[in-house]
Amino acid sequence: MTQAKIGIIGGSGLYKMDALKDVKEVHVETPFGSPSDALILGTLDETRVAFLARHGRNHTLLPSELPFRANIYAMKQLGVEYLISASAVGSLQEEAKPLDMVVPDQFIDRTKNRVSTFFGEGIVAHIAFGEPICQNLAGVLGDAIASLNLPEVTLHRGGTYVCMEGPAFSTKAESHLYRSWGAKIIGMTNLPEAKLAREAEIAYATLALVTDYDCWHPDHDSVTVEMVIGNLQRNAVNAQKVIQETVRRLSENLPPSDAHSALKYAILTQLDKAP
Ligand code: ADE
Repeated sequence: MTQAKIGIIGGSGLYKMDALKDVKEVHVETPFGSPSDALILGTLDETRVAFLARHGRNHTLLPSELPFRANIYAMKQLGVEYLISASAVGSLQEEAKPLDMVVPDQFIDRTKNRVSTFFGEGIVAHIAFGEPICQNLAGVLGDAIASLNLPEVTLHRGGTYVCMEGPAFSTKAESHLYRSWGAKIIGMTNLPEAKLAREAEIAYATLALVTDYDCWHPDHDSVTVEMVIGNLQRNAVNAQKVIQETVRRLSENLPPSDAHSALKYAILTQLDKAP
């Protein structure tokens, strides 16, 4: 039975949603093990949502340790069709300042150690990933941010998110390389999530919260955890307002998404002959 059509994954600094009502913790088991934490089912202004703290509510999981498959599988099991992923990122461009919000439209994969597919072991499939973010969901998210007129926050629609392995932050040479590629922001988690969500036919969009200028900017200190958490705490209330407004808009009109039919032409194996 569908428990919630809308899922929210909260990254560093966003471990719970204060506005959630009628909260129930669900411990979901999946063929890929346990998710990062219990999923929190509840209502945001009458709309059912499922919330998951990506790194666990006490932040105990490194990006490379995240059970990405279990997290997305658990969302799917609860009936999630739209997934909003709130994530701290560093900025690779002057115009995206700390506290700004970016709704990216592209990714570059610099991870080395992540399992980013549900397929294999006898079932071969290749999903289309040219447009890795659901543009209709990203549009609703962007419109929600714009409508709130948040002080100190500039909205950036579009831009490329570099997903690095971590856990160490980048070197200056790497940071300049990503800038030369035209990338806008950098983080450690969203690309495997986006791929798995697409394989699970879930529409996915990222709410990227800028916390620092990574290490390339001559006039700003290089990123530290203290900087990331400090700016996230300043922005956590805004992030929750944005999510609430996005969910309110989605509850009025769930947009169509190509992600919902991502597997239509993706599977090569004859499933009746699969092991
Ligand atoms: N998350 C927040 N800031 C980051 C940065 N500069 N690099 C990678 N991940 C980040």
